[in-house]
Amino acid sequence: MAMESDVRLVGVTKRFGKVTAVDGLGLEVSRGEFVSVIGPSGCGKTTMMRLIAGLDQPDAGQIWIRGERMERVPPYERNIGLVFQSFALFPHLDVMANVEFGLRMRGESSQPRQEKAVRALRAIGMENLARRRIEQLSGGQKQRVALARALVVEPALILLDEPLGSLDARLRIEMQSELKSLQRQMGITFIHVSHNQGEALVMADRIAVMNAGRFEQVATPTEIYKEPRTRFVAEFVGRNNIFEGEVAESRNGIVRVQTRHGVFAIEGRGRAPAERQKITFVVRADSMRTVDAGGPPTENVVSGVIKGLEYAGSVMLMVLDLGSDQELKVEQHESLSLGRAAPRHGATLTVTWTAADAHLLPTPSLTAHHMPEEERDVR
Ligand SMILES: Nc1ncnc2c1ncn2[C@@H]1O[C@H](COP(=O)(O)OP(=O)(O)OP(=O)(O)O)[C@@H](O)[C@H]1O
Ligand SMILES: [Mg+2]
Repeated sequence: MAMESDVRLVGVTKRFGKVTAVDGLGLEVSRGEFVSVIGPSGCGKTTMMRLIAGLDQPDAGQIWIRGERMERVPPYERNIGLVFQSFALFPHLDVMANVEFGLRMRGESSQPRQEKAVRALRAIGMENLARRRIEQLSGGQKQRVALARALVVEPALILLDEPLGSLDARLRIEMQSELKSLQRQMGITFIHVSHNQGEALVMADRIAVMNAGRFEQVATPTEIYKEPRTRFVAEFVGRNNIFEGEVAESRNGIVRVQTRHGVFAIEGRGRAPAERQKITFVVRADSMRTVDAGGPPTENVVSGVIKGLEYAGSVMLMVLDLGSDQELKVEQHESLSLGRAAPRHGATLTVTWTAADAHLLPTPSLTAHHMPEEERDVR
């Protein structure tokens, strides 16, 4: 790597009794990068953040920040801003005093302290509430104050654990772009934990998808969305349809796969799995196109009974029952269904997709050890 990483995790492991909360995590975050960590509840996100912050010590592995190993560096010397749900503001102090706190602890004098705090408050759009007491603020306002409190000391790294969790949808979207532009402006490295994958897709330079204490994939939002590496990622991110089958034929860059629902063609993109090999492939819900049954496309066509139907703005979300316990998610822009009868519950719908829309998952034999060797079990 040309530039030294700002944050580097090597084989970081933390156990609580019998539970391995994080399990051999490896990650490199560049300076000024915004990394979002997403994953189901209990997968180890907060544990990872606490380890980076120094609030807990790993049982194995190493944590480096700006080229320095962190074992013996206490939390307050790590130059990290924390926006954690558990890090309460001081309820009896006003907004200004809360934001100034870190600077006061550093012994900065009153005038620069106030100037910096006002700047941070302006950045989060709360300068007019500087004299409000914390207990008189809404949940979203409190979170913004927590963010200003972290920003004001201009740390090398900010860790945000579910910072936008309790905001309503509109405020959340506003805050997302504010947060992102603040981060760009200040050039601060951000590691951000979220339950909300939409948020991560919008804000992050890279996304780390975590499952059971491990990273399943660390990649750009586009890659995560378009080229999930594992079944877990495909199921967790976006609206994906997952098919399993056996390779029937692999020729001229096209792989034909026999599934319970027919034979489907997939662009191999350099991969040519052997005949009879068991494989899994993914087709996004928004790649599905409605066709008239019996009409032209003869390949990659399935029919199912509509069992779920929902309008989300100008997009229609449908769930088809393909039989033998398989569902198919279809996401269709309204304009594409013009001239067709509106879909109804219980009606049969036929859809198609192109061979290029299907994405082969790497086979389990290739993914079992997908972490680089040096990032595993290092101590
Ligand atoms: N102090 C602790 N003592 C014992 N077990 C813990 C402790 N902290 C976390 N765990 C366990 O470690 C695992 C990971 O927890 P963690 O809080 O990191 O998950 P998370 O990904 O942040 O979940 P959520 O999305 O719900 O916040 C869980 O099984 C949790 O019960
Ligand atoms: Mg958590």
